[in-house]
Amino acid sequence: MRAAMRSGATAIIVAAGSGQRAGGGVPKQYRPIAGKPVLAHAFDAFARHPAIGEIVIVIGAGQGDMAKAALGARRPTGIVAGGDTRRASVQAALDFMTQRSAIGPVLIHDAARPFLPATVIDRLLAALETAPGAIPTLAVADTLARGDALLGEGVDRTGLHRVQTPQAFTLDAIRDAHERWPADQEATDDAQMARAAGYAVAIVEGDAMLDKITTAADFAAAEARIASATGVRTGFGYDVHRLVEKESLWLCGVHVPHSKGLSGHSDADVALHAIVDALLGALAEGDIGAHFPPSDPQWRGAPSSRFLEFARDRVATRGGVISHIDVTIVCEAPKIGPHRDAMRSRLAELLRIAPGRVSVKATTTERLGFAGRSEGIAAQAVATLTLPDMD
Ligand code: CTP
Ligand code: MG
Repeated sequence: MRAAMRSGATAIIVAAGSGQRAGGGVPKQYRPIAGKPVLAHAFDAFARHPAIGEIVIVIGAGQGDMAKAALGARRPTGIVAGGDTRRASVQAALDFMTQRSAIGPVLIHDAARPFLPATVIDRLLAALETAPGAIPTLAVADTLARGDALLGEGVDRTGLHRVQTPQAFTLDAIRDAHERWPADQEATDDAQMARAAGYAVAIVEGDAMLDKITTAADFAAAEARIASATGVRTGFGYDVHRLVEKESLWLCGVHVPHSKGLSGHSDADVALHAIVDALLGALAEGDIGAHFPPSDPQWRGAPSSRFLEFARDRVATRGGVISHIDVTIVCEAPKIGPHRDAMRSRLAELLRIAPGRVSVKATTTERLGFAGRSEGIAAQAVATLTLPDMD
């Protein structure tokens, strides 16, 4: 089972720093990258992940208005006042969770790392199955050396890691680690505190997308990172169902009065099935049968809109945006034209995109073949998405 199927993890996003090294009037976490505030990028990455139940944001004194502006319509579980150090800011969020009697794993993340691939969250939660802590790291690629004005000795980089966030812990472990950490000492991250308290911290593969924004130059690098990671993807879907007596006919999520209907395991909405396969194809995530096996009795008679909503949510989880859907229904009868507008609005509603981004077409096959003999209906669909290729 995917770790993503767990429920109820809490994300803490620490955004209470003043961003001294990045400079500028507004602290770095509230400034935009690709038209969206840094904090909002991080928030959305957690919000679209199915394993994350709650999101707590820690902000600094006097940052309330900037945080509100950065979040827009986004609704975190809580906005908590941070402290003078990152450690104190994390502690404030843990105290807030204690008040809410929260349980379950917690992922502590720097707001200053806007691009968070879902796969990193998956890896962290999977690692938490066997260790009380888990952190994402990258290998150190550059040669390392000590020195001041003059080059000193070289440093062996074997076994050295660049540590990133989010850092994941069981709530008990990280609470205990914070309680036991000496108040007069600083810690740069939570894993260090967990280790000091004797907890095992697993290492999982990090991601270059997660690099932190520290200096002013890092903004340009982050812009370039997200632009180069976002691309256009297309997917194609095809499906056929048999026309039979005594079934109702569903096409594009709309009931179409007709003398026959389509037979199949679900409601046999051949057009929705083609669109689902097109979306899954664009994501390279298998096909409808792999996610909803026809052998599974729970899908008998199920409305195919559920499959479409699943595919839509998969796109969102991957940080993608559906640009366009084009579907062609191949049948001799019924006539699709009178239902086209209803189908387009139903698809737009299910996919949460504008009707102008949905095209429904139909054709006959000049009475040739199975569709021409009205033995069945076929549908073909093309989905176009933009997708940050972080995963
Ligand atoms: N942070 C925090 N509370 C603090 C200090 C830092 O919540 N008292 C957060 C920052 O907002 C950031 C993360 O911890 O998301 C990592 O810290 P850092 O990159 O050092 O950010 P700043 O402290 O804001 O930057 P600087 O050190 O340059 O002032
Ligand atoms: Mg700092």
